[in-house]
Amino acid sequence: GLTVLACLLLPLTMCLSLATAADLAIIPAPSKVKQAKGTFKLSSKSTLGGGEGTDALLNWIASDINKASGWKLQRAELAGADLAFSVNPELEEEAYSLEITSNKVQVIGGSSKALSLAYQTLRQLTSLYIYGKEMGSRKASFEFPCLTLQDRPRFAWRGILVDVSRHFQTKEEMLRVLDSMAMVKLNRLHWHLTDDQGWRPEIKAYPKLTPKGKPHYTQEDLKEIVAYAAVRGITIVPELDTPGHSAAIVRAYPELGTKQADGKIGRVLNPAKEETYEFLETVYREMAAIFPSERFHIGADEVGMGAWKKNKECQALMKKNQWKPHDLQTYFVGRCQKILAKQGKKTMAWDEAFSGEKTAEGLVISSWRGVEPGMEAAKAGHQVVMCPVSALYYDRANSRSKANPAAYSVNTVNLHLSYFFEPASPLLGDAASNVIGAQGCVWGEKIRSGDHLHRQIMLRGAALAEALWSDRSQLDWNDFVARLATHRARLDVATYPYWWEETTVAKQVAVVETKNGKQQLELPATSDFAPGLNEVTLHYLKGPGVVTVLKVELLDQQGKVVAEDAHPYQLTVDPRRSAQFYLLKAPDNFSAKNSKLRISYQGGEQSCSMAILQLPPLPLDDYSPRSGPDSAGNRAAQKQPDE
Ligand code: ACM
Repeated sequence: GLTVLACLLLPLTMCLSLATAADLAIIPAPSKVKQAKGTFKLSSKSTLGGGEGTDALLNWIASDINKASGWKLQRAELAGADLAFSVNPELEEEAYSLEITSNKVQVIGGSSKALSLAYQTLRQLTSLYIYGKEMGSRKASFEFPCLTLQDRPRFAWRGILVDVSRHFQTKEEMLRVLDSMAMVKLNRLHWHLTDDQGWRPEIKAYPKLTPKGKPHYTQEDLKEIVAYAAVRGITIVPELDTPGHSAAIVRAYPELGTKQADGKIGRVLNPAKEETYEFLETVYREMAAIFPSERFHIGADEVGMGAWKKNKECQALMKKNQWKPHDLQTYFVGRCQKILAKQGKKTMAWDEAFSGEKTAEGLVISSWRGVEPGMEAAKAGHQVVMCPVSALYYDRANSRSKANPAAYSVNTVNLHLSYFFEPASPLLGDAASNVIGAQGCVWGEKIRSGDHLHRQIMLRGAALAEALWSDRSQLDWNDFVARLATHRARLDVATYPYWWEETTVAKQVAVVETKNGKQQLELPATSDFAPGLNEVTLHYLKGPGVVTVLKVELLDQQGKVVAEDAHPYQLTVDPRRSAQFYLLKAPDNFSAKNSKLRISYQGGEQSCSMAILQLPPLPLDDYSPRSGPDSAGNRAAQKQPDE
């Protein structure tokens, strides 16, 4: 009755706002949802109940509701509780269901992790003041629409990398990162804890790694952060970057560096000395006691092997085995794998560590130099996490407008790149199952504050979360952008900064189904096309095939080509920005009315649908002089897109 009355008093659109699943603004979009009439209304008298293994979870939920409402919800037996959380081990680990009726919220999950994910969905279903501390002053009420919902993720690894070496992030900021990740069901924090600029985790056996005055985490801090993550369904995978990126180790313990003929000590660990492995074994043991993650990251990226060539022990080992320097790296990685295996851990490493058949079984690869190295590793039977620079490095600017904070590179990593990112290209065939997910990476060189860190992650992380959680048949850019308005309001209440610049958000021109063979497709150009710079970008949406785009042209109302950009771009394989953007310079007298966009592509036997997007042109003065489409920086980046 009350709902009906409320509807009579509210504008029609608001009444309809709970009418469709899309309007629930759940991010990532859930697998299945069916709404019913009515709502469940939470009150100070509502009770919480949980089955076995849910105690920590219920404590957190109670404190979260307390923070927002001031209420202290009491516990009750599971069967009689108003909000009942129970585990059904027959469900997948992260699968859950919700059943909301006017008198009960029933949550069933495959594990306590899944229940934690389900709670995030509940938060998204109610007043956004659940994210804040001021419900009282807003007179908000926490109502939940009656519905049944089933949900499960597509990928197990939905991650964010945070680098705390280049600029340290405090424990409090890290907890805020974890809260924001949990909001959108991101479940892996790849924590880049060490690099040349600083070693951050306390190691009791090697106190010189964290000298006085250098910010670091005590082991107590680390345990607290790990526990905070766990209750939110997040696993923290520590990365201790070696044998390169190890200047901080070598500064503290020069004997572990690579001594060269001239006496200089290289910043790379010496893989030919047993002391190196004794050091690592001790360090891993202390860290393994703190991080329960089954995977442990050893780095192995960008190793400056020059120092090895000038080192006595390395020279001897290479000579004895007829190795090249890269074989020394393979040897180092294999030794680390053995040490970690003894401690019950699987080893992860960056894609430089993959060396085909020489790579020991079980090495998990983080593919950052594009997706191709990861595809190779997946075909060779290795698990892979995709995190290509060009699509998922979140230290890059969000757009090319000059309003962006200083970024590490002129290349931009726009929101839609995360949304359309497909970690498991259809070209992988059966090897696709080795791709366990993807992650956005925030390297710390330019990240000077917690707020800057959050701003880089926030909306791109939400877009990636949907790409990795939802089925591709559910992906819909326009719908996502609409839901993002609600999501930004949540972030406002939760006081997270985020990057949102309406004029730089890509607009969908069309979604088309591809055909076999060489094809030409003509579409009306939307009214956003204008004289000056126009950019078109094409993305794989779904389906068993992939296509290679060959050319994009802009035609005026007489059908005359007024701008064109011809270069091949294979969807899902080549996310380089130079390839995915087609730059069309329309003449001053161009009018979008009755004009057309013509797209030439080579389709495969199997089809896919592709989304055609446009980056609306900015006024020329609004482009960053570093990275605008016409800047020298951008032209250089187009030639050398992956840095
Ligand atoms: C990396 O960006 N060096 C993994």
